[in-house]
Amino acid sequence: MNDFIEKNIGVMMLLILFAVSFGGIIEIVPLMNQNVVTEPINGLKPLSPLQLAGRDIYIREGCHVCHSQMIRPLRSEVERYGHYTVAGELVYNHPFLFGSKRTGPDLARVGGLYSDAWHQAHLYDPRAVVPESNMPGFTWLFDTPVDAAVLPAKLRALRTVGVPYTDDNIANAAQGLEDTTEADALIAYLQQLGTLIKDRR
Ligand code: HEC
Repeated sequence: MNDFIEKNIGVMMLLILFAVSFGGIIEIVPLMNQNVVTEPINGLKPLSPLQLAGRDIYIREGCHVCHSQMIRPLRSEVERYGHYTVAGELVYNHPFLFGSKRTGPDLARVGGLYSDAWHQAHLYDPRAVVPESNMPGFTWLFDTPVDAAVLPAKLRALRTVGVPYTDDNIANAAQGLEDTTEADALIAYLQQLGTLIKDRR
């Protein structure tokens, strides 16, 4: 039998495929039905319209290309960044911003770590606060107003994929954002990242 399989590469490939998909199914399918992966953790709320605008600026500016938002359950990561990322924190994230490269530090729990003023200085000119930084400055965010008019449509779109925004949330999404800049929105987004699980550095 062994001889036969080893000499017939086609049969061997089929059997390998079978073994791998069997293992995959056993690992992946139960996850889809476990509440711990699909249910929001206690206190999780959808992003406010301002934070949501900030998240889209984060994506537009490519922050995720240099920063991950995924703390792995490894001692080195947990000691540096705080509690590892859990699925229930991310159920309202569309799309996920795990990232795959860390030119800069992971940002999954950066919320509350620095003051708003620190973030302003850092975003405008990173080297003003971290002399050895190679992060680019994002000066234009400080004189570009937030595009509030598109926010109701963004909330509505997220509701269709399961984020629990109410009709009121959507109707009022653009309110009170007349004098806010893109930098304000981005910082509002950063300051809530990972704050529901307090155990951190
Ligand atoms: C070219 C890669 C690069 C890009 C793009 C980039 N960063 Fe960074 N970032 C870094 C590096 C490197 C550091 C570490 C040095 C420092 O603090 O400036 C850093 C640090 C940070 C920190 C401090 C994190 C900590 O734990 O101390 C924040 C917050 C941050 N970046 C936010 C952003 C945001 C928001 C954007 C998008 C607007 C962005 N970064 C884009 C490379 C990048």
